[in-house]
Amino acid sequence: MKVSVFGLGYVGAVSCACLADRGHDVIGVDIHPAKVEMVLRGESPVVEEGIEELMAAGVAACRLRATLDLDLAIAQSEVSLISVATPSNADFTPDLTAVDKVITAIGRAIAKKAGHHTIVLRSTVPPGTTEERIQPLLEAAAGRRVGDRLSLVFNPEFLREGSSVKDFYQPPQTVIGSIDEHGYAVMEQLYAGLPGAFVRTNCRVAESVKYLCNVFHALKIVFANESGSVLKACGLDSREVLKIFCQDTQLNISAAYMRPGFAFGGSCLPKEVKGFITLAQLHNVAIPALAGLLGSNGAHIDRAYELIARDGRKPVALFGLAFKPGTDDMRDSPLVALAEKLMGKGFELAIYDNSVKVSRLLGKNREFIDREIPHLERLLRDQPDAALEGAEIIVIGHADAAARRAIVAAAAGRRIVDLAGYADLQGASAAYEGICW
Ligand SMILES: NC(=O)c1ccc[n+]([C@@H]2O[C@H](COP(=O)([O-])OP(=O)(O)OC[C@H]3O[C@@H](n4cnc5c(N)ncnc54)[C@H](O)[C@@H]3O)[C@@H](O)[C@H]2O)c1
Repeated sequence: MKVSVFGLGYVGAVSCACLADRGHDVIGVDIHPAKVEMVLRGESPVVEEGIEELMAAGVAACRLRATLDLDLAIAQSEVSLISVATPSNADFTPDLTAVDKVITAIGRAIAKKAGHHTIVLRSTVPPGTTEERIQPLLEAAAGRRVGDRLSLVFNPEFLREGSSVKDFYQPPQTVIGSIDEHGYAVMEQLYAGLPGAFVRTNCRVAESVKYLCNVFHALKIVFANESGSVLKACGLDSREVLKIFCQDTQLNISAAYMRPGFAFGGSCLPKEVKGFITLAQLHNVAIPALAGLLGSNGAHIDRAYELIARDGRKPVALFGLAFKPGTDDMRDSPLVALAEKLMGKGFELAIYDNSVKVSRLLGKNREFIDREIPHLERLLRDQPDAALEGAEIIVIGHADAAARRAIVAAAAGRRIVDLAGYADLQGASAAYEGICW
């Protein structure tokens, strides 16, 4: 393909070298003459392992060029990758000045072209930027709409500085958000032959994935460093602990616990988090991120309450009370905390949980409930339909298949607040919502 790459920094330079190596005809563009001259000499404007050889080979094979002339680059390419910088403003919103400028200039150049052109934004931008900011700018400058010989794509890049050439050839996955259908086909052709899944999604999702990746990497580093510091204070080499911890790819380094939904609870997670925070305090180790876990969990319960209470105090049917389905263990259940809050604020409440029978509650579990919801017996219903009777808001913490069928049958005209995200409840009512969707 004929590719132009705007911005010859860390991302753009690697794209130029690697795409030329894969047989594409590449032209790099930058506003800095020195960077353009370096590429023209077959040298890399950035330091990256393996890039010098690829740059030199690309230029020698006449598959890689560079220019300051944006119009020329657009005229001689069919797809343009935008990898100009998006530094932070003082308030940490991204400064999109460079993106705006380059998109407007590219749009004007496209206006002079008859053939199809695809614009691929690779700079990291907040969700919504491609559709709400870039598309109108591009269409106004190009004088034609996306879909009319014009495609607009957001393609996040997951290259790590230092190993980005290697990462280019081994992407974890290729994520493509496109406004029009043709954009996906162009990107499939551009990356043909590279390993990893090719994921088609919309631009907002693709933009968000990139943001979450970096935030998650930061979270992992903080987790390892905070927990490692506590363990060292306990006389351990935390590297050994973390190594074994990471070997569990079923529960630890996995998709387990990574579904947004409701707060954590139960007899283990809150207890162990509190215990670990206490351990850190005893050793005078500051762990602000881990110490914030309980506050964050509480804030999520508050968000559930705010969502339910949004339209005033209407009768609520709550499905699920135990901390997870299939158990009657209610100790530290976030659903108990939510039920308590609703009752305290004067909501009329009916509760259904298939596994909870007050007469069968014993020991610590019984003590907990007698303390937290002393009138539980009066609120509990033994059938889903009985809980739904008279309810205007249906709140689902968890529900078995039979209860979900009853909810769907009764949903019309009622609000559904689904804290778990059951697929079969989506769209059951026009007013369907969760905290995270
Ligand atoms: N560096 C990384 O590893 C990395 C990884 C993922 C995503 N990103 C994102 O990619 C984007 C680029 O990052 P980078 O590290 O390559 O930035 P960089 O600062 O190294 O390079 C940006 C380049 O764009 C050029 N430029 C600015 N305006 C231009 C214009 N109008 N026309 C042509 N060129 C122009 C600059 O001169 C510079 O050479 C950023 O949004 C960044 O957040 C970077």
